[in-house]
Formats: sequence, structure tokens, C-alpha cells
Amino acid sequence: MASLKTLLYLGICLSAWIITTADNNFVPKAEQVHWVSLDFKTILTWTTKPSNYTYTVLYSGDEGNWRESPDCIRVSESECDLTNYLVPFDRTYSADIQTEPASMHNDYDLDLFPHTYSLTFNPYRESNISAVKFTVEDAGEGRAIVNITDPLTSVHQGGKQLSIRDVLRKDLKYKISYYKSGSTGKRDITSDTSMAEVSELDAEQSYCFMVAAYIPSRKTTQLGAWSLQQCTHGHVPQEWSLGAWVGGVFILLTVLIILVTVTVLCCKCCRQRNKTLHTPQSSALV
Ligand SMILES: *[C@@H]1O[C@H](CO)[C@@H](O)[C@H](O)[C@H]1NC(C)=O
Ligand SMILES: *[C@@H]1O[C@H](CO)[C@@H](O)[C@H](O)[C@H]1NC(C)=O
Repeated sequence: MASLKTLLYLGICLSAWIITTADNNFVPKAEQVHWVSLDFKTILTWTTKPSNYTYTVLYSGDEGNWRESPDCIRVSESECDLTNYLVPFDRTYSADIQTEPASMHNDYDLDLFPHTYSLTFNPYRESNISAVKFTVEDAGEGRAIVNITDPLTSVHQGGKQLSIRDVLRKDLKYKISYYKSGSTGKRDITSDTSMAEVSELDAEQSYCFMVAAYIPSRKTTQLGAWSLQQCTHGHVPQEWSLGAWVGGVFILLTVLIILVTVTVLCCKCCRQRNKTLHTPQSSALV
């Protein structure tokens, strides 16, 4: 009984000692933990204060077991790329950032050091989608073909770099926003595929297009970043290229110069003829 009491006291003293020394030698805790995710590349970031401590990141999916992220064991940086571990994408993941002494002995009890838990994150539902690249071609008869390049993720599977279409499949749609050049009214269409036809355009007009990935099945982060704008030229400006304009102006100028020259020459002729006609008459009158 006495020995049990001694053991208990010893235990209390030891924990108190560890806690007080921990307090004395400030042990930093990861703060402001955020998920940053673009095109399914997912990085956990946090802030720290300079110290001799390092951080180990653990993660778990759907409240399963905690696993150490092999790339982020006792790191001194304040970020951890978890892209390759958060698979399958459509799961709810949590992370735990654990502070550890830089020189680690096996007999440390890690639970005595601070942990910071992240909010949960589901890459499939929350990763942002970057601005896409696309081309637009005038297909005649008031139609335009929009050809969108699905952004690539940094995830490789079976030697292939996956695109966001490989990940999202049928859930990936595109929002195409367009307006007639010089007007403010915008129209929107949604396309299920990466190639879309926009019809009922005014054939003679120029139109400008913008595209963004659109995932209506999500509750938040449905829309990706908007692309840069691409415009068609409409039919009239397309036939009148820059060369045609220069040529047209040149011909017009030539015609004008000829006209002016002819007029000037004619007038001179007329005046001269008038003079030769008038002079004898006037002298005859005098
Ligand atoms: C997605 O982008 C928005 C706006 O830039 C940003 O506030 C948010 O933190 C981003 N989300 C992720 C998971 O990166
Ligand atoms: C669409 O764009 C891609 C990439 O720019 C190109 O390889 C493909 O041939 C285009 N498709 C059509 C039908 O223009």
C-alpha cells in the first residue's frame, strides 16, 4: 500500500515537473491551421514561432486511425503536402499537428506536447479549381465552338497525370458566360462536356467568352476561377483583315489623288482656253 502511494506521488511529481519545465521552456503550438487546395493538390499550412521544436503531421480519413504523413515527420517548415495521402478524394479528412522536441528520445510521452487539430477537409468537395484555358471558333450560322482544356492535377495514377475530369467525371460541368461586343447583357450556359456549342448568335457580331469549371453537386466552392476572355470577330471584320483595310484605304487615296489632279489640270486648261478666247475679243473692243 505504502509503495503504491509512493509511486502515485512520484507520478504526480514527475508530471508536475514535466509540465513546469514545459512551461518554463516555451513549447510552441501550431496555430492558424488551414487547408489550401487547388486542382486537388492539398497542402496543410500553419504558423509557428521560432524555436528548437519540430512538427509531425498525422492525418485520418472518415475518423479512422491516425497515420503519420511520411513526408512530414519532424519537419521545421510550417506546411505539409498531403496530396498523395488524401485518397480516395471523396472522404472527410482531419489532420493533427504535433509539436516534438528536435532531439527526440523514445521515452518522451508525445501526449504531453501540444497538438493542434485542423478543421475537416474533403478534397473532392472543397478543392478550388483554377482558371481554364480554352479556344473559341466561329462555326458560322451564328454558332461558336468552345473547346476547353481540363486543368491537370498533380496526382498521377498508373503513370498518367490525372486531369480534373478524371477526378470529377460527370460532376464536372463548365459555365460559359458570353456577351455581344459593345453590349453589357451577359448570357450563361452550362456545358456537361469540355467541348460546347453556343448557338443563336448574331452572325455579324463579335462575341466575347469566359469559362469557369462548375460543380453543381457541391454545397460550396461550386465555381472555379474564371478564365481570361476570348473573343470571336464576327463575319464582317473577319473578311476585312488588316491587309484588306490598308489596301482599301490605299485605293481610295489613289482615286482621290487622281480625281484632284484631273480637276486641277482641267481647270488650268479651261482658264487657259478662256484667256486665249477673251484676249483677242477684249483687244478688238478697245
Ligand atoms: C479557395 O479559394 C478561396 C478564394 O480565393 C479561398 O478563400 C479558400 O481558402 C480556398 N480554399 C482552399 C481549400 O484552398
Ligand atoms: C481542342 O483543343 C485541344 C487542345 O488545345 C486540341 O488538342 C483539340 O484538337 C481541340 N479540338 C478541336 C475539335 O478543335
